[in-house]
Amino acid sequence: MAAPQINPSILSADFANLQAELERIASADAAHVDVMDGHFVPNLTLGLPIVEALQRVSPIPLDCHLMIEDPDRWAPGYAEAGAAGVTFHAEAAAAPVKLARDIRAAGGRAGLALRPATPLEPFVDLLPEIDMILVMTVEPGFGGQSFLDVTLPKIRRARAAIGDLDIRLQVDGGISAATIERAAEAGADVFVAGSAVYGVEDVAGRIAELRALAAA
Ligand code: DX5
Ligand code: ZN
Repeated sequence: MAAPQINPSILSADFANLQAELERIASADAAHVDVMDGHFVPNLTLGLPIVEALQRVSPIPLDCHLMIEDPDRWAPGYAEAGAAGVTFHAEAAAAPVKLARDIRAAGGRAGLALRPATPLEPFVDLLPEIDMILVMTVEPGFGGQSFLDVTLPKIRRARAAIGDLDIRLQVDGGISAATIERAAEAGADVFVAGSAVYGVEDVAGRIAELRALAAA
């Protein structure tokens, strides 16, 4: 399995100082950017103009997690803006294969996200079209929620389905020093952490600690 990656979520950052908050996580693998539209999830965060601005100043790649309706229309624009990864929700996409191809054609890595209650199996045949699976380990919408252990079997099934394919397996929600080993043991190799990273003074130390725990 590939070396574990730590992607802090800027949802828990100071939105009044996003450039400085990106610089604080410069030792991470990517910045996880939660785009919420107030419809697919009951929360509203930021959209394309802000991602374009972040892209100009970020010291690390941007990994955009789109919790929006109609990703078929909007997701490729995030790749065009320079985001390294663009993940859309399986529940929201009308034509996921076309969408994944559009994201890749725009230069991004395409990710497919599953809410906790969404099964993996209907999407297994799509795996050659994507670069990442995101298994949500909380209900999407808010930071600071508790990791849902009921998602562990799906992480295991996703790891088995990936097999030899070059696909990353990301987990998002409730990842901390107390839970990351469980997710890693189940097969995840990209770890999103919001409150666990931005909730401490020593952000670089926390990133290193999470990386070491995930690799153990
Ligand atoms: C939740 C978001 C997450 C969130 C994670 O809907 O997708 O990326 O920022 O926050 P923590 O790590 O605090 O659970
Ligand atoms: Zn997220």
